[in-house]
Amino acid sequence: MIIAIDGPAASGKGTIAKRLAVHYGLRHLDSGLLYRGVAKAVIERGRDPGDRDAAIAAARAFEPGRYPESALKGDDVAKAASRVAAIPEVREALIAFQRGFARSKPGVVIDGRDIATVIAPDADVKIFVTATPQERARRRLLELQGRGEPADEAAVLADILARDERDTRRTVAPLTQAPDAHLLDTTYLAIDAAVRAAIDIVEAVRTGRKPA
Ligand code: C5P
Repeated sequence: MIIAIDGPAASGKGTIAKRLAVHYGLRHLDSGLLYRGVAKAVIERGRDPGDRDAAIAAARAFEPGRYPESALKGDDVAKAASRVAAIPEVREALIAFQRGFARSKPGVVIDGRDIATVIAPDADVKIFVTATPQERARRRLLELQGRGEPADEAAVLADILARDERDTRRTVAPLTQAPDAHLLDTTYLAIDAAVRAAIDIVEAVRTGRKPA
């Protein structure tokens, strides 16, 4: 089984994907980490993430697991990731790895922005997870505060809106809901309820029933 989960930053898609993978005994790939890894490599070389040649070279030399996840989680890396992710050759260089992963046994959950549309258009279940920008900013703020990082609500919201704008407006593989994806709006759902709703969607698809 392939489960494709797409959605904007802080929509809850990462946690939902992880928990679905555990629930169904599937492998999980957070594809955002690939773009973050490329961005990190560009920054580490002292180059700007908007530098096409540097970003393409980093994507072509990409090695999964080169950086620990903790080194990729910062908002500076996220911002840089959304810039390198808009470069078609960067995306192209990361496709084979993701499609290879999608064929892993016993099955996978992959989360990102273009999983249902580009990476695994034949996924068994497609879920588009979203929430209002204000709610996503509130969650991100709590996360930053939890890590002891200084954060300002207005700045966090502005960052989220800028990233949404870049991810939805880019010409290649923009963030969009696939026509056959199920919409899961988590604005008013705590994470446990959101995971239950996602499992309900998967079960409904597996049994041919309409999701609740
Ligand atoms: O999901 P995450 O916030 O870690 O993604 C970081 C950035 O990587 C996103 O803002 C997006 O620009 C890019 N990305 C993408 N396609 C994916 C996953 C992430 O363009 N499948």
